[in-house]
Amino acid sequence: MKFGFDELFFSRTDSRGKIKSGNTVFQRVSQYSWDELLGKPHNTIRHKDMPRGVFWLLWDQIRKGLPIGAYVKNSSKNGQYYWVYAIVTPIENGYLSVRLKPSSAVFEGAQEQYQALLQAESDGDLTPAKSAEILLASLNRLGFRNYQSFMTQGLISEILARDRMLSVETLSTVRFFHELLLESGKLLETATRVTETYHSFRFVPLNLIIQAGQLGNTGAAIGTISNNYSLLAEEIRLGLDGFFEAAKKVSDTICEGAFLLSTSIIQQEIAEVFAGEAKTSEIDHACEMAHLDRQRGLYAARAVENLVNIQRELEEFARGAAEIKRLTLGLAAIRIMGKVEAGRLANSVLNDLITDLETFQQTLSTGMTEILSLNSALWQHTGQLLDAYGDDTKVAAA
Ligand SMILES: Cc1cc2nc3c(=O)[nH]c(=O)nc-3n(C[C@H](O)[C@H](O)[C@H](O)COP(=O)(O)O)c2cc1C
Repeated sequence: MKFGFDELFFSRTDSRGKIKSGNTVFQRVSQYSWDELLGKPHNTIRHKDMPRGVFWLLWDQIRKGLPIGAYVKNSSKNGQYYWVYAIVTPIENGYLSVRLKPSSAVFEGAQEQYQALLQAESDGDLTPAKSAEILLASLNRLGFRNYQSFMTQGLISEILARDRMLSVETLSTVRFFHELLLESGKLLETATRVTETYHSFRFVPLNLIIQAGQLGNTGAAIGTISNNYSLLAEEIRLGLDGFFEAAKKVSDTICEGAFLLSTSIIQQEIAEVFAGEAKTSEIDHACEMAHLDRQRGLYAARAVENLVNIQRELEEFARGAAEIKRLTLGLAAIRIMGKVEAGRLANSVLNDLITDLETFQQTLSTGMTEILSLNSALWQHTGQLLDAYGDDTKVAAA
């Protein structure tokens, strides 16, 4: 069923998913008359190729009062199909779904995942909840940390792809959020690498202490040095746990912000589209317009609030990173003392252990330098985003 990249459509339901209203594109694409749509459950347009796990996730989110984005294949009355990227949000006494035509690489990946999931559902007689679990696991394997990360990257990619199709310049806020998503992904990767390095070297200081003990009095100095190293390494471990959590928070908040902002942009556009559509007797135009306007305002305000949260999370994260960097420098000083002492004792086992410490130190130090530079890039882009946000909202308000 045909609809263009320039067309957006929406439907609004009650709290059980019965269709209350929509716009003319929604009705046209479905090929049902308004009489056949209004008051009917939304599964009227369900396509048999849609895995049940996707709808389970959708309802699970919206019943919690949370927004969700999902790729959905629908069926029109004469049996043709059409794909949409739908943003479903809770609204007064029900839910609102705004849809756009998808075409990005994320969409291609989603279609493959759905096919595999549909097969798994028919092979395994899965419950919808189990099917949703399998979908999350396969998204994980594709590199998406959770469903939120998948739906956000999907939405941003669809907006970028759609703007390209329509030869429209993408709003700078969307472009900056796209950058932020990429950078926060790298930040998490580096934070994971640094944390894993710590774990793979965690027994070295202990082995040094054991070696020093075996050397008796001659090993006393190296024993003390190793003890100090162990204590500092333990402090780093505690710091790294908090630091990793902070990196995840930064990433989650950026993801949430990107979704809220993109949602508010699409909601803004559907309000404009609907305002320009011919009125039909079946739909109370003024009432729908008020719903769309409220929703657009709500999500724009949430997006602004989120920017402030991102800055707070980044500050917290930068503090943790600076503290680890400081502890790493202390570690370097102790390690040098150990190296001198091991050299004096000319003990090859000690020397090997000190070399391990050097590798550990080096990886930690390089990782922290990368993290601090990513952090400052994130700072810079958040600042640009705040400026751009002011500009884009001025455009939207004009
Ligand atoms: C606002 C809103 C919009 C929805 N849009 C669609 C849609 O476009 N296509 C669809 O198949 N299901 C849609 N659903 C989900 C349906 O309510 C239903 O869960 C789904 O069609 C699966 O139906 P089934 O459980 O009877 O198989 C929507 C739900 C809500 C709340």
